[in-house]
Amino acid sequence: MGRIKARITGSVKSFVEEHRPRTKVKRSAEDIFAGIESPRDEEGNEIMIQVRNLSKIFGRHPEEALALLEEGKTKEEVQNMTSNNVGLYDVSFDVRKGEIFVLMGLSGSGKSTLERCMNRLIEPTSGQVLIDGLDFTSLNEEDLRIARREKMSMVFQNFGLLPHRDVKNNVAYGLEMQGVPESKRLEKAAATIELVGLAGYENSMPSDLSGGMKQRVGLARALATNPDILFMDEAFSALDPLIRNDMQDELIKIQSELDKTVIFVTHDLNEALKLGDRIALMKDGRIVQVGTAEDILQDPADEYVGRFVREVDRTKILTASLFMRKPKSVLYVTQGPRTALRIMDDYDRNDMLVIDRRNHLVGMVESDDILKAVQSGDKDLSKIVMDIPSVGPDTPMSEVIQIMVTTDFPIPVIDGDGVLLGMVSPSVAAETLNIGGGE
Ligand SMILES: Nc1ncnc2c1ncn2[C@@H]1O[C@H](COP(=O)(O)OP(=O)(O)O)[C@@H](O)[C@H]1O
Ligand SMILES: [Mg+2]
Repeated sequence: MGRIKARITGSVKSFVEEHRPRTKVKRSAEDIFAGIESPRDEEGNEIMIQVRNLSKIFGRHPEEALALLEEGKTKEEVQNMTSNNVGLYDVSFDVRKGEIFVLMGLSGSGKSTLERCMNRLIEPTSGQVLIDGLDFTSLNEEDLRIARREKMSMVFQNFGLLPHRDVKNNVAYGLEMQGVPESKRLEKAAATIELVGLAGYENSMPSDLSGGMKQRVGLARALATNPDILFMDEAFSALDPLIRNDMQDELIKIQSELDKTVIFVTHDLNEALKLGDRIALMKDGRIVQVGTAEDILQDPADEYVGRFVREVDRTKILTASLFMRKPKSVLYVTQGPRTALRIMDDYDRNDMLVIDRRNHLVGMVESDDILKAVQSGDKDLSKIVMDIPSVGPDTPMSEVIQIMVTTDFPIPVIDGDGVLLGMVSPSVAAETLNIGGGE
């Protein structure tokens, strides 16, 4: 009611006109962003986030620290000379609409601080963040809360699920905060749960889920409110390699379907190279390079990046574990040839990997051989399984590709105990060569 009192000017009619829709409808991000045009860069790309000279000093006397930094002192010098800790200094970059923008750097380089200054979970000391053209750093508390809730979501490393809520009510949480009625929010939650591949788990409790599944819930919860921007801080870092790989694939798929803008924090160069449309490399609270994976590998901006890239040179960083997929189906060595034929027919394949009950790789069978086995009355596949070359998860892709040209089959990836982890198919290997670029 306060705002009505404040606005009694002009005719009663125009006053009523102006307020009729507003008195019922709560203020929304649409109101906050009304009339502001999305900026574009020189190439015409829409810009979702503009970061301008952003600094964050932790400590009592930030001005003192900023002055020293301006004189050219390093983060370490400033920390030794004052009691302040430099989180970020003079960071500027743009994030395009619909890109996965990775913040990459060693622990303590300022990635989380930067991400949290962008959504103002941490208040920057100086500088600006514009979201979709609007100066986010100057929003008042109330507008900030509304804009953040409707425009942005976060996915955390430790999932951050509500332990006493089932999957659907965890996913619906953000919508509940927005005041969306129950039936509507559960409907949206169900659709989002399906999108992240968790259909059937709507009523499960978080404690019943594996780490990978929990993070799918985290992702679904973040997506359910249909935000423009997704902030992900080391979101996959706690997952084991194969699950992590799946989640990366899932994120790429979802991003291409939904066209979200994603700010993805990671300390893992492999992950950065795989996910990032562009990557910002951070060191000591600054950005030392922004570019595509290709830019960064081929033309490192400074010695720091160069060392980083050389240490993990291309053939070494691109390992089998990064490119393996789960086979759509496998056969068990104890299965009969007729069953095997039917399964292969279902999956429209002429060859398939064979494992034992404990998931150890046994080899590969081809449909021609199985047909013969059916005719000769064999009871299981053991006699016709062929040995095929396999690799470990850390085998460089350069080696995988060399093996691949000697065989017509996908290359199985096994761990030290011979357990099948996944396989690398020739089409995926081709993808790798593109990432390598140039030759
Ligand atoms: N709340 C805080 N108080 C004081 N120093 C902090 C705080 N948060 C982060 N820092 C410091 O800011 C720097 C960047 O930290 P952070 O953004 O967490 O790095 P990253 O996410 O890359 O590991 C580090 O030197 C860290 O010690
Ligand atoms: Mg961090």
